[in-house]
Amino acid sequence: MDMEKIVSLCKRRGFIFQSSEIYGGLNGFWDYGPLGVELKRNVKEAWWRDMVAGHNELIVPAGAPSTYQMVGLDCSIIMHPQVWKCSGHYDLFHDFMQTCRQCKKLFRADHVTPMLKESAWALAWLEACTSPGASPEQVTFDSNAAFDWARKKGKKLAPGLALVRNPQGTLAALAEDLPSLQSSGITSDVLLRYAATEQKSVTGLQTPCPACGGDLTEPREFNLMFETYTGALQSDENKAFLRPETAQGIFVNYKNVLDSTRVKVPFGICQVGKSFRNEITPRNYTFRSREFEQMELEFFCHPSTSPAWYQYWRDRRFRWYLDHGLSKERLQLREHEAAELAHYSCGTADIEYAFPFCAPGEFGELEGVAHRADFDLRSHQEGKLVKDGNNLVVETGPDGKPKHRGSGKDLNYFDEQSRERFVPHVIEPSAGADRATLAFLCEAYYEDTAPDENGKPADRVVLRFHPRLAPIKAAIFPLVKKEGMPEVAQQLYGELKREFNVFYDDGGAVGRRYRRQDEVGTPYCITVDGQTLQDQTVTIRDRDTLKQDRIHLKEVSSLLREKLR
Ligand code: GAP
Repeated sequence: MDMEKIVSLCKRRGFIFQSSEIYGGLNGFWDYGPLGVELKRNVKEAWWRDMVAGHNELIVPAGAPSTYQMVGLDCSIIMHPQVWKCSGHYDLFHDFMQTCRQCKKLFRADHVTPMLKESAWALAWLEACTSPGASPEQVTFDSNAAFDWARKKGKKLAPGLALVRNPQGTLAALAEDLPSLQSSGITSDVLLRYAATEQKSVTGLQTPCPACGGDLTEPREFNLMFETYTGALQSDENKAFLRPETAQGIFVNYKNVLDSTRVKVPFGICQVGKSFRNEITPRNYTFRSREFEQMELEFFCHPSTSPAWYQYWRDRRFRWYLDHGLSKERLQLREHEAAELAHYSCGTADIEYAFPFCAPGEFGELEGVAHRADFDLRSHQEGKLVKDGNNLVVETGPDGKPKHRGSGKDLNYFDEQSRERFVPHVIEPSAGADRATLAFLCEAYYEDTAPDENGKPADRVVLRFHPRLAPIKAAIFPLVKKEGMPEVAQQLYGELKREFNVFYDDGGAVGRRYRRQDEVGTPYCITVDGQTLQDQTVTIRDRDTLKQDRIHLKEVSSLLREKLR
């Protein structure tokens, strides 16, 4: 897997474009092209079918503690601001950011060190003035080379770096400490920090800006919610937020769903939709964007059964990714350590994928499955909660009143059979549609050899999507544009088009047509040839095995239906 090749294919074949590209693009925003929109719709549809539309509430699914019901919702993106105050997002949904005093760029504080490892100027500087020793902790530093680099290449590559702005002063401070550093073993990280520090006695060691080498400010808090205003006046009373997650729309509609349907605990409410986070450093293609889609389930159950439901959803969601083509070598289920858990949670697991941009041994989060207990429903009932010992209590302000008042609505559930009244516990599997789409794209990318139009082995790029996710399900070709073949092929195309996203192509040698479809992941190519005119059979070629079978025209749609189930 090579991320650059995947990104280039995605642009070339119309999967993903940079948003507003003709104006230079907008960082953290992406557009899905004609094939990308089909792929992402298929990912969301596969999730919805698996979770809601295809769920059979009459049987106990394998591994589930009991039967359960599932329904869906589609909530507004802008909600009452109190929703975000009670949920905790208003006070707590922040990252720490650092700004470069020289180039003014912003960085998420926890991204600075990994970004420095990839930074062009930092790599060039280390290459110019260090030689590796026995281990990364034993590099040898050459002050003369560092001085030369600062006076020449550094001016262009890292104009903000202290060493470039003031080579003598910065190196003098380093020279003082160098003997003791070298005797105890010196790392490239430490050297970079010295290169960024003019006055160690005043500022301590500085961490350089990954972009220009300049000084970074201390980490400061930054709320990730996008703000907007409802109505004509831009006043504090009209301030609203673009939702940073779809989950809260489900919690605030929980009672509406109970009152308007016949669902009974245990049951789940699903939602797929846009979320917005003003990420400080959007990065890694669509992986961390500022506008993205989530696929979330809030599953409401009796507190006594919640640990069993947590296990069930964790395992079931992990299996979904495997069933749709992610390899088990690149997928992992990581149970959070107790210290990592939110204070109200008795379990959280991340489903993670080894994306090509992750360092060896590292993974990126696809989905979080969290046991959220009664935290969310109680927050919207009573007001924003905080931990007090082992309990959750309403947070109060200096006046002793609730800091963020809840709705006051009774969100208890009354079980008619047991006559018990309780606030259900919640299990939340929360997946990103864009991250899942990206993982399926990365996993699908292969380079191999296959016979070309002359039967000779030739390199090919192929996207091996699961047929259910493939943007185009089948391509229909007449072998040649004459002898009645186009007419038969067009008729077949018209019939299939009613049910499947199929593609008609009569341009160029058939081998080249196969290649074009392989590159966008079309699992089947159906060719109408001379024999079709005699016996009504066509060839159907499998993208992965390259095997060609002859089947009757009448069997094509049922075969496709079977393969896509
Ligand atoms: N309601 C829980 C929640 O929102 P989260 O871990 O913050 O939890 C859930 O987000 C999923 O949403 C993540 O696992 C990821 O797939 C996706 N996601 C979160 N932030 C994202 C971003 N900036 N860009 C793309 N996807 C994102």
